[in-house]
This record gives sequence, C-alpha cells and structure tokens, in this order.
Amino acid sequence: MSDDFVTRADIDRAAQFIAARTRHQPRVGLILGSGLNSLADEIANAEVIPFRDIPGFPVSTVEGHSGALVIGELSGKAVIAMRGRVHYYEGYSMQRITLPIRAMRALGVATLIVTNAAGGVNVNFHAGDLMLITDHINLVGMTGLNPLRGANDDSLGPRFPDMTHAYDPGLCELARQVARDAHIELREGVYIMLAGPSFESSADVKFIRLIGADAVGMSTVPEVIVARHGGMRVLGVSLISNSLAHAHFEVNHQEVLAAGQAAVPKLAGLLTGVLAQI
Ligand code: HPA
Repeated sequence: MSDDFVTRADIDRAAQFIAARTRHQPRVGLILGSGLNSLADEIANAEVIPFRDIPGFPVSTVEGHSGALVIGELSGKAVIAMRGRVHYYEGYSMQRITLPIRAMRALGVATLIVTNAAGGVNVNFHAGDLMLITDHINLVGMTGLNPLRGANDDSLGPRFPDMTHAYDPGLCELARQVARDAHIELREGVYIMLAGPSFESSADVKFIRLIGADAVGMSTVPEVIVARHGGMRVLGVSLISNSLAHAHFEVNHQEVLAAGQAAVPKLAGLLTGVLAQI
C-alpha cells in the first residue's frame, strides 16, 4: 500500500463529485480529529457527504472517527470540514490519506485549519490544554514516509516545497489574539508525528522530548505537507488529551476521546473566533 499513488485525475474526480453535492463554495478547510467531531454539529446549512461515497477517499476504521465531509457555514464563513480523518496506521498510503486535502485544494480551499488530539510531552502541559502548533517534526518522513514521494505533478506544487513556515505566522498571531480576547489559555509548541498505532514507550517519550517535541500524535504532518505543497495557509491546534510527562503514564483511546469532549467548547471558541476574522 505504500506505493498507492494518487493522480491528478483521482483528485479531480473526487473534487467534482463533492462540488456536485454542495451549494457552498468553501475557501476554508477544517480537519476535526479524534473526539473533536462534535464541532461539525455547529456547521449551519450543512451538506454531509460520507467519505465512503466519495470516489477514491479512504474510509476510517477507527472508533471516534465517523468519516464524512460536512460543508456549510461556521462564523459566517463557508467551510468544508472533515469530520474524522484517516490515519497512516490504518493501512492506507500517505498519498491516499491526504487525498481529501488535495480535493479541498481543487475545490478552491486556500486556508486549512488542522486539529488533532495529542499526548503532552512538554512537562508543563496538562490534559485538556490547547496547543497552537508552531512547527512540527516529521519523524516518519525522515525514514521515508512522505506523502510527496513519487513523481511530482508540477500542477499540484513544487518538487521540493519549503517547510520553514509551514504553520502560517499570520494565522498563529490571529489565534493568539483571539485566545487572549476570549480568555482561552493557549499553549504553543512543536508537534511530532509517530506512525502509531501503538502508543509511545517511556523511552520513546524521553527521546522525543529530547529532540524538541512538545506534543505527539499519529496524524497532521502528512496533511500539512500536502497543504503547503499546494500553497495553502495552515493553522494547527492540538488538544492535549493526556500527559506523558510522568514516568508512569498510561494512555488509552477512551481517555483521548473523553478529553476531546471536555475541551470542545474551548476549541470551538478559538476556531470560530479565528474564522470570523479570516
Ligand atoms: N500518543 C500518541 N498519539 C496520541 C496520544 C499519545 O499519547 N494521545 C492522543 N493521541
């Protein structure tokens, strides 16, 4: 599956299918990760298209990721939201899991807001915190798992895209300002992606803290790389669902989902505030 490449024709087929099923012309895309799906309920005048109906889209196999596109209005802006996402560990290729981002781009989306649930590696982080992603460490990319592997289609983006400002400085500043105004505590840091699905060992956590990670998860980085390749502006926010700061931590998926639920109002406040000003 690692060489299941996606072509321009695959992208256009998916985009045309979506365009034919919505009245909206979204310019902002949203990815709602583990436990954060309920934010999609706040999208008004929505059309809902299950991933399984869209040609070429990967279909999620994980509890808590009921996969669908929700297209409608949030904070007065037309948005296209992924309610749930598909992860590399589910067995799809890097290109297949990022096809939805390509389709959004083909539909005219210029700004991508990515959310995820992540483990807190920074010892000052607690479950329920929000973290503005200021940068990422592409650990799986360093071992060769990059969604841009394979022949480059120059009509989608450059062969060697820059990643120095992957998380748009202007959008980061807007998020800080919205958080300040709404009295939402917003932490900041570096997100690292591990392939999963097993959670980190204690030694893994020590290692990723040493190399500069503040939060760890199993998604986001491939999506952001593809969005940047396509010239989209990106804002990323992690919900810290559990802390890995102590010598004896244990993580389970239910805990991740529950923390997501508890922090949804905070995240909703932040994202709707940002959307209103985009
Ligand atoms: N590790 C990896 N991914 C995660 C975690 C974690 O502790 N929590 C939520 N997603």
